[in-house]
Amino acid sequence: MASRTRVAILISGRGSNMQALIEAARAADYPGEVVLVVSSRGDAPGLSVAREAGVATVVVDHVRFRRENRDREAYDAELHHELTKANIGFVCLAGFMRILSDGFVRKWEGRIVNIHPSLLPAFRGLKPQAQALAAGVKVSGCTVHYVVPELDAGPSIAQAEVPVLPDDTEATLSARILEAEHTLYPQALKTALSRL
Ligand code: GRF
Repeated sequence: MASRTRVAILISGRGSNMQALIEAARAADYPGEVVLVVSSRGDAPGLSVAREAGVATVVVDHVRFRRENRDREAYDAELHHELTKANIGFVCLAGFMRILSDGFVRKWEGRIVNIHPSLLPAFRGLKPQAQALAAGVKVSGCTVHYVVPELDAGPSIAQAEVPVLPDDTEATLSARILEAEHTLYPQALKTALSRL
C-alpha cells in the first residue's frame, strides 16, 4: 500500500471534529493517519479524547507564550517545530482558536485545512451561526477549506448544507451544523490528501 500521509490536528477545545477525523482515519484504506494532536490550551477536553484513542499529544500553551512576552511568530515557530519533529505531512485545524501568522501559513500552503461552521464565503470570522440567524438565512452549513493568510478565505474543498429552522437558537443551529461537520471533515480531508 502507498504510504499514508502523517496528519496532525490542531485543537483548542472540545475536539469533536478531531475525534471524527481520528475515527475515520482508522480505516485501512484512508489516505492519512492521525499521528499527532496539538492543543493551544493545556485544559482542552479534546486532549484526553486523543490520548484515549492512542494519539500522541502536545500542548503549545498560548497562555505561557503571552506570560513570557513571546509574540505570535515565536508561538508559530514552536508549532512548526513540533510538526516537523513528528514528520507531519498535513495539518487539520479543528476548533483551533488562534490566528496563524502569514509565515506559518505559507510554509504549510496546500497542506493545511480548516473547518468553519458556515457556507463560506458567507459569515466569516467569529460566531458564524449567530451571524446566520441574524441574517435570517434559510440554509446554512459548514465548509472545509484550505488555509490562506486571510481569515476563512481559502479555496473551499467541500461544503454541507443544513436547514435553518424558524425556532432555531444559536445552540440548536450549532448542534445541527456540528453533526454535518463530523461527516464532512473526514470526507474533505480524504479529498485533500488524494490531491497531494
Ligand atoms: C466547530 O464548530 C468548528 O467548525 C469550529 O469550531 C468548532 C470546533 O468544535 N471551527 P470541536 O472542538 O471540533 O468539537
